[in-house]
Amino acid sequence: MSVFAELLICWQKCHGRRHLPWQGTDDPYAVWLSEVMLQQTQVNTVIPYYQRFIRRFPSIKILAQSPLDDVLAAWSGLGYYSRGRNLHRAACRIMTDYQGVFPQSRESIQQLPGIGRSTAAAIAVFAFGQREAIMDGNAKRVFVRYFGIRNYPGEPKTLKQLWELAEQSLPETNHGDDIQVYTQGLMDLGALVCLRRNPLCGQCPVQDTCAAYRENCVAQLPVPKPSKPLPEKQTVFLIYTTKNKLLLEKRPSKGIWGGLWCFPEETGDADRSIALNHGQRVDLPPLMHTFTHYRLWINPQRIEIDRVHEQSEKTVIWIEPEKALELAIPVPVKKLIQQHFLGNTRPNGRLEDVAATTTQTDHC
Ligand code: ADE
Repeated sequence: MSVFAELLICWQKCHGRRHLPWQGTDDPYAVWLSEVMLQQTQVNTVIPYYQRFIRRFPSIKILAQSPLDDVLAAWSGLGYYSRGRNLHRAACRIMTDYQGVFPQSRESIQQLPGIGRSTAAAIAVFAFGQREAIMDGNAKRVFVRYFGIRNYPGEPKTLKQLWELAEQSLPETNHGDDIQVYTQGLMDLGALVCLRRNPLCGQCPVQDTCAAYRENCVAQLPVPKPSKPLPEKQTVFLIYTTKNKLLLEKRPSKGIWGGLWCFPEETGDADRSIALNHGQRVDLPPLMHTFTHYRLWINPQRIEIDRVHEQSEKTVIWIEPEKALELAIPVPVKKLIQQHFLGNTRPNGRLEDVAATTTQTDHC
């Protein structure tokens, strides 16, 4: 037997939970009901519901013959009512397809409504002593840490790897109810010791062989779900220049950079009113700016023109680059001015690293 299984079984017998109301029975109905109730609900909450439910619906046959409304009424307060609906549907299916006898193989149990692979495996283990691996939230955390899995465990490839490790870790036989004790031990270890936050490694029976403990990364595992990449948008900044001046326009008070001075965007008012498009456009390197909800790729184009075109609107100014820095301007405008007009330096004199990958977090 693996060291992991041996230590876990030994620990479960001394420190695990052995007096929960659904323990000490191999009635598949009782096991099934408890496993479904425990899918999204804590043990302490489940206990009174389980006891009331099994008194009210003492067998699969009675459950199947009862109106769904009565079943949902007994479920009321546990939440996730689809579990109650699926329980009733599955009871009806067991009556019609299996003549009221609960199926025994993990694969056939898994075909019933509301039962995934891990729940089917737990039922197969506790009711029938089958050699099946579980992978509920607690077991997943234990395996991720014990084997030092540094990828997000929800990823299909990583999940497959975890199932394989879980299967390899099982005791080879069910001698002395080893499989039941082992499976309960895994659930208990996850619920009592290998906690998501502040795990009690000092009380862990497998501390010595735990990869996360050895590598001092227990708190970092499991790796959280990677955040979704931000959506990307594009814009063109038109940098009109003449002699030693550049053109800025004041943005409307609403929207991004509201009320700040900015280079006109391609479709902006200044661009339309000046109609200076006869100047030659030169593409400058793009700049990326990150807002909380999206990433903006700014494609600056420099347009050198021969003279200042006087503007009637108060929202447009021609200004020297140094003076522009004293106005209320957004970060990417400041960076572009520094990079292309003021010798590429930061205020502290270091070289500015404005490039295609410049990231700036901003809130709009
Ligand atoms: N969570 C899921 N199944 C459980 C069980 N049989 N005992 C305790 N917690 C559980």
